[in-house]
Amino acid sequence: MTAKLIMGTQVNEEILKEIEQEVASIKKERGVVPGLVTILVGENPASISYVTLKVKTANRVGFKEVQDNQPADISESALLALIDKYNKDDSINGILVQLPLPKHIDEKKVLNAIDPDKDVDGFHPVNVGRLMIGGSEVKFPPCTPAGIQELIVRSGVNTQGAEVVVVGRSNIVGKPIANMMLQKGRNANSTVTVVHTATKDLASHCLRADILIVAAGVPGLVKPEWIKPGACVIDVGVNRVGEKISEKTGKKVAILRGDVDFEAAKEIAGFITPVPGGVGPMTIAMLMKNTLNSLKFKLGIA
Ligand code: GUN
Repeated sequence: MTAKLIMGTQVNEEILKEIEQEVASIKKERGVVPGLVTILVGENPASISYVTLKVKTANRVGFKEVQDNQPADISESALLALIDKYNKDDSINGILVQLPLPKHIDEKKVLNAIDPDKDVDGFHPVNVGRLMIGGSEVKFPPCTPAGIQELIVRSGVNTQGAEVVVVGRSNIVGKPIANMMLQKGRNANSTVTVVHTATKDLASHCLRADILIVAAGVPGLVKPEWIKPGACVIDVGVNRVGEKISEKTGKKVAILRGDVDFEAAKEIAGFITPVPGGVGPMTIAMLMKNTLNSLKFKLGIA
């Protein structure tokens, strides 16, 4: 069997078009657009490239975008004061502080300082709690898990009663996606197992999965013999395994590899996401969706 490829690049484009249209119609009817501030501290190259793409995408869909770059030696109190300023700014609906932060800053303190109603990353404990309760409580599902769910659903994969196995228990991916897939209702209602570094027999759990979501950060961890024939495999891993010269730009670029042995797995799975081009592009689309929804909640039209 050769699996159907789930192309995040394509779904991302569909979602951005939907958002663009909605922003234009809200602008026409209400005279406002969603406002997003991206705060970047220091000059971590990966963070710069993520933020650059977020800014470009926000501008493309018609948001007001504020790019706030701060030096790596900004004090924690100055960063907290900056967040407070944007919490009080009526034109800003979403505040994103790019992670990781320099070591002298307490990341938890910073994330907890963001107004939960502007926390478009969905990292604030209030939003983690809302996600856990589920249903209409949920305001901002975290972007990567929301993107994963969207890819599964838009591919037509049935989630009702499906065996979902999540490999990895991070706060950003593993725990929230497990929680989202077990909620009652459309697009979820699955039987969920979470496996991790202390799990005794990873292979036997994975082999049960109708939907296998892998976010372990270990290149090639999942072997083809761990995959149930016809399963939907979502590979969240983005591992830098080397460098190459890009044919397009002639510049040095990272060689990326997922957590799944893609070439062999695609002969067994029914659906599979490639790396890159699978889950990655979805994260930014969902950030835009959360920011648009933040404005819609405020206007009472969500
Ligand atoms: N750093 C890597 N991924 C993310 C993300 O999704 N949100 C934020 N704020 N920082 C990140």
